Amino acid sequence: MTNKLRYFIANWKMYGDLPSLKVLKDINFFLGKNKKTYRPKVVACVPSTLIKMFSIKMRDSRISIGAQNCHLYEGYGPHTGSISTLMLKNSGAKYIILGHSDNRQEGETNQQLKQKINLSLNQKMKVIFCIGETLNERKKNKTYNVLTNQLNNILNKNLNFNNIIFAYEPVWSIGTGKIPKLLELEKVIKFIKNFLRKKLKIAKYPKVIYGGSVNPDNVHIFSSINEIDGFLIGSASLSSKKFIDIIKNYYR
Ligand code: PGA
Repeated sequence: MTNKLRYFIANWKMYGDLPSLKVLKDINFFLGKNKKTYRPKVVACVPSTLIKMFSIKMRDSRISIGAQNCHLYEGYGPHTGSISTLMLKNSGAKYIILGHSDNRQEGETNQQLKQKINLSLNQKMKVIFCIGETLNERKKNKTYNVLTNQLNNILNKNLNFNNIIFAYEPVWSIGTGKIPKLLELEKVIKFIKNFLRKKLKIAKYPKVIYGGSVNPDNVHIFSSINEIDGFLIGSASLSSKKFIDIIKNYYR
């Protein structure tokens, strides 16, 4: 069992309401009971409607609250229906998911993402930046080109890479029950780490987590890849039992 810090990040997407706080309370209870056994960092990226309330209720807990996206402009402005990084930060968000394929598919561009990353880091939120190839791109052997392109587009020497967690999420794996072959996954994760370290001329490898159909039954096999710094978990994160079992089974 590794004693390295591992991220277990819940992405609730467009699910959850006030009573869903119970899910986080149960997970927190489990983390408190097992604090000597495991060293996970748990983050719950919940809908914007819940950030404020959950941040207050979970203030003294082992769980940090995060957001799932933001608007392109900082502060306040005439953008109907939008929420800025300043507003998210003031609501209590400590983390923010950016570049999720759900949003990229709805038209979010690399250029916009570059801006959103800067705004989020300015607000001192940690960014969970998602990258990954579609099934079509994979079939055409374009995985590495796609990843390089997605990374190159946001890189800039002034960014504080200590505050960015890279989430490799193959689009074909999200919500499908399909996961990459272990060897393939190991290669991709190492590629991302090496690419970023070289490109940014940094001493430490950046954090890279995996996301896509992670569940209590498959998580243990990922523990053989030491380079994976954790997981971004979608549907299984809506159930405290599944989320706790993911943590248990990872460290089994
Ligand atoms: P999934 O979603 O775990 O339901 O596949 C992952 C994600 O979208 O981040």
